[in-house]
Amino acid sequence: MTNTELTQLEKAHLWHPFTQMRDWEVSSPIFIESGQGVKLRDMEGREYYDANSSMWLNVHGHRRPEIDAAVIAQIGKVAHSTMLGLTHEPGARLAARLAALAPPGLTRVFYSDNGSTANEVALKMAFQYWRHQGQDRRRFIALSEGYHGDTIGAVSVGGVGLFHGIFRDLLFEVDFVPSPARAASLEAAVQQMEAALAAHNDEVCAVILEPLVQMAGGILTAPAGYLKAVRELCDRYDVLLIADEVATGFGRTGAMFACDLAGVSPDFLCLGKGLTGGYLPLAATLATDKIYDAFLGDYKEWKSFTHGHSYTGNPLACAAALASLDIFEQEQVIDGLAPKITLIRQILSEIESLPHVGGIRQCGLMAGIEIVRDKSRHELYPFEDAIGVRICRRALAMGLITRPLGHVITFVPPLASSPGELTEMLGILREAIAWETQDA
Ligand SMILES: Cc1ncc(COP(=O)(O)O)c(C=O)c1O
Repeated sequence: MTNTELTQLEKAHLWHPFTQMRDWEVSSPIFIESGQGVKLRDMEGREYYDANSSMWLNVHGHRRPEIDAAVIAQIGKVAHSTMLGLTHEPGARLAARLAALAPPGLTRVFYSDNGSTANEVALKMAFQYWRHQGQDRRRFIALSEGYHGDTIGAVSVGGVGLFHGIFRDLLFEVDFVPSPARAASLEAAVQQMEAALAAHNDEVCAVILEPLVQMAGGILTAPAGYLKAVRELCDRYDVLLIADEVATGFGRTGAMFACDLAGVSPDFLCLGKGLTGGYLPLAATLATDKIYDAFLGDYKEWKSFTHGHSYTGNPLACAAALASLDIFEQEQVIDGLAPKITLIRQILSEIESLPHVGGIRQCGLMAGIEIVRDKSRHELYPFEDAIGVRICRRALAMGLITRPLGHVITFVPPLASSPGELTEMLGILREAIAWETQDA
């Protein structure tokens, strides 16, 4: 089919996520046909750097022969079979690998198929755990400007009002603590969390947060020591801790998990996105024996965790995840990240000197470039100027794909990006920013 014919079909029938379809209908959609390494190629043969890792997913690059081969080998056996009443080898092996990799104590792996459901599972498990302790706890504590996905439970604990304000009437009650990135100091941020815990601790099931970086909130980085302090507070107030590492997991922070950098073991670890190297939809909620044991009992006690999805623990996705973990191990991927992170920091500090760059936020291979109209007064462009959208469109025309979060341009390249590729990608971003913000 030609590009024109496909465009007609797509515009007649497709509805895209987070997209104003009226604008889309008059746009010229790019059909991605193939990928190789850190680049994607469209049907017209144009190449683009995948500078947001296809929405923070891709880890080792596209078309990694080892992951391709693992998926093909599994498809030669069976593409899918259920985890209800049955199990399979890739699922069992992956669970053991994840338990061994995760921070200490997270021994149990519950599969689902996206980041939102990984968090839903943790929220429901936490709620049910307290029921099994004979306690009627219903509250959750979450962070303002946090994002945990788009299903209703995940939206309830999400603190990015712009995304989800319309659904407020559907949501359960959550106590929001200001983002630690906005606090005057670590002590102030910790005090805010303690105040929320002290107010209702015997009603609170869990604290849920994105450790170290609130990604969708605008790549907001928490002060060092915050995660550890929250862990200590949760212990002191007897509240569970859910670490949503859907975005930060699998090397993005420079460590395998953000929790590793902080030396923290949560009660639940939620994983998705990079779990399969960015190949296939798979998510996992890891829990401790303490949580798991609370769900054991006789049939008549009704203690099972009654939650599951049709594609829970899909074998193809598990095979991809195992191959991705092999690459991490064989190529010592994590050990190789430090020089890349330093390089990104160096180039970003040059970009920071541009007249309309108000600030840079970086944690590992995740960065946000904040665009401002007036640097000295830190004044933002009016919303209707869509400055972030314009810069990303310009970058696209120059051969680089990324997305804005409002006035913040995100840069989340695949871990496999070489120093040369990182330099080139950031060069394009720099030029796109300079072009779109040049003063008349
Ligand atoms: C921290 C975090 N949690 C959860 C999610 C939701 O994941 P999914 O889009 O796979 O449902 C995201 C997605 O961006 C995320 O960044």
